[in-house]
Amino acid sequence: MCGIVGYVGKNCCADILVDALSKLEYRGYDSAGIAVFTENGIQITKSKGRLADLSAKMNAEGKPQGTVGIGHTRWATHGEPSDTNSHPHRGGANVTIVHNGIIENYKQLKEFLIAQGRSFVSETDTEVMAQLLDFYYDGNPVQTIARAMQEVSGSFALGILFTDFPGTIYAVRRESPLIVGVGEAESFIASDVPAILKYTAQYYLLEHDEIAVLTEQGVSFCDMQANTIRKELLTADWDMDAAEKQGYEHFMLKEIHEQPESIKRTVMPRVENGLPDLHECGITPETLRQFRNIYIVACGTAMHAGMVGKYVIEKLARVPVIVDIASEFRYREPLIGEGDLIIIISQSGETADSLAAMRLAKKLGAKTLAVVNAKGSSVAREADMLIYTHAGPEIAVASTKAYMVQISVMYLFAFELALAKGQIDEAECRRLTALLMETPQYITDILAHKETVEAMAKPLLDAESLLYIGRGLDYALSMEGSLKLKEISYIHSEAYAAGELKHGTISLIYKGMPVIAVDTQKKLHEKTVSNIKEVKARGAVTFLVCGESYQPDSDIADYCFRLPEIDDLLMPMLAVVPLQLIAYYAAVQRGNDVDKPRNLAKSVTVE
Ligand code: G6P
Repeated sequence: MCGIVGYVGKNCCADILVDALSKLEYRGYDSAGIAVFTENGIQITKSKGRLADLSAKMNAEGKPQGTVGIGHTRWATHGEPSDTNSHPHRGGANVTIVHNGIIENYKQLKEFLIAQGRSFVSETDTEVMAQLLDFYYDGNPVQTIARAMQEVSGSFALGILFTDFPGTIYAVRRESPLIVGVGEAESFIASDVPAILKYTAQYYLLEHDEIAVLTEQGVSFCDMQANTIRKELLTADWDMDAAEKQGYEHFMLKEIHEQPESIKRTVMPRVENGLPDLHECGITPETLRQFRNIYIVACGTAMHAGMVGKYVIEKLARVPVIVDIASEFRYREPLIGEGDLIIIISQSGETADSLAAMRLAKKLGAKTLAVVNAKGSSVAREADMLIYTHAGPEIAVASTKAYMVQISVMYLFAFELALAKGQIDEAECRRLTALLMETPQYITDILAHKETVEAMAKPLLDAESLLYIGRGLDYALSMEGSLKLKEISYIHSEAYAAGELKHGTISLIYKGMPVIAVDTQKKLHEKTVSNIKEVKARGAVTFLVCGESYQPDSDIADYCFRLPEIDDLLMPMLAVVPLQLIAYYAAVQRGNDVDKPRNLAKSVTVE
C-alpha cells in the first residue's frame, strides 16, 4: 500500500524523505515522489519505479533544497503506475498532497470540479482530493481541510502542503493509519513507525477525522471544528535493529530466523503456573464458556493461521469454528449474533476487509477478539478483546513470523477454551502448554538445517506449476506453503486436500510436475501416503515434509525434509518452517525481489 512521509525541521528534507520512504518500501509500491518547500516555491520530483529511480531523477534535475516537505510511495489503484499518476499531486496554486487509501466518491467530485471549470492531468483519486482542497481554500488550512472532508467518503490519510504556509505540514486521517513523530526541533508524519525510527521513537497516533499541524515549533492536533485535542505521546517499543536486516540477505530470511524469539515473547507472558492465562487480554474461563460458535475472519496468511486455529479449537474444545475470508464474510449476510465469537486475525490491524468484517460482527451483536501484531492499530482499538502477537515489526511482504505467532495464539486460546469447556483436564492442558513452549527450540534446530531445504528448492528453478497436498492440519499448512511460494517465486501453485485430488485436479499431473506433500499427522499417514503414490504413479516429482520417524522409500519421495516430532497437534509450528524456506530459496534462485514482490502490498487498506 502507499506510504506517506513528511518532515519539518532544520535538515535537508529531500534526503530525510527518501530515507524515510525506504523504510516503507516493504509496504509495496510502484512509484515514488517528494514535494519540498524551496526558495522558489514547492518543487515536486516524482518517478515511476523504485526509490533509486527517484533519486536518479533528483540528481539529474537538482535536489530540492529545503527543510519542509512530504513524500510518497504509490501502490497503483486509480490509473497505471506512471510519472504523472505518482504523488505528490497539485490541486491548483494552493495545495500539494500525498495520499494513502481511496476517495470512494472521487468520480462525482471530479464531475463537480470539472463543471466548475477545473481540469485534471492524472487519473488518480488523489488529484481530485487536491483540487477539492484547492477549491475550498479560504486562507485558513484547517478550515479548508474540514470543509473538504465533509464532501469525501472512503478511507484515506493525507499529507498536505499549503503554498501560503511554507513552514507547515498538515495531515488528516480517516481510517487509514498515520502517525506523527516528534524529535528535537523536528517532526514527521508517516504511515508506519519504521519510517521515523532512525530519527525518533516518540510519536502520536492520529485518530479518525483528526487534523495534525506540524511546524518547527512543534505539533498540534484539532478536530474538524478546530477544537484543540490533547493526545498521548507513545514510544515505539522496538529499535532500529528490528527494522534493519542485520546481516541477513533479506528481511524474509531474518524474520524466519526470528520466529523462536517471537513465539517466546508471545507465549511466555500468557502462561501462569503452566497453564494459559489470557485474562489480561480480557479473556477469562467465564467469558469463554458463553460462546456457542466461533468465526475466524481474516485475509491471506492470517486467514491460513485461522485454518490451523479451526482444527485445533474444534479438536480440543469441541466448539464449531468457521473460517471465513474477510472480503467474503462481510458481503454474505453472515448468520452471527449474540453468543458467537468472531476472531479477527491481522498482522497490520489495518486490513480494510478485516476491519469492516469486525465492525459488522459487532453490529450484529457478536463479541470480537482481535489477534493483532501492530500496536494501536484500528482492529486492535475497536475489538472487545485483544491478544497482541509480539512478532515485532515484520518488513518482508511475505508474512512468516507474524503467521507463527498467530498460530501460537490459536494454540493458547484453544487450550484455555478446551479447559474452560471441560473438554480437557488440567494435566492435559499443562502438557500441551509445555509442548508449545518447547517449539522455539525445535524451530532453532530446524533452521540449523536450512541448507537441506535450499537444496530441495533447486529443482523448482524452472517449475511452471506445482501442487501442495496434505490432510487435516497438513492441508491448512499446504495452503500457507502454497501462498508463500506464489507470493515471492511467482510460480503458479495450488494447495489441495490430498484426498480430494482424485476428484478432478489429479488430471493436471504431468511427468515432472513438482508436488509438495506435507505429512506430519500420524493418524492420517497411511492415507496421505496413498495420495502421494497416486501422483508419483503419474509422473510427479515429490517433495515430502514429514516427521523423523518416517523413512520414505524412493517410490514416495524424490526429496524429503524430516522434522523433529512433537505432538501431532503442534506439528504445524515446525512444518511451516521448511515450507517458508522452500518459497524463500525458490524466489532467491529465480532472482526475484524477495522482500518486495511485484503487485503485492504488506498492508491492504483498500477493499
Ligand atoms: C496482504 C499481505 C499478506 C497478508 C494480508 C493480510 O495481502 O500481503 O501477507 O497476509 O494482507 O494482512 P493482515 O495485516 O491483515 O494480516
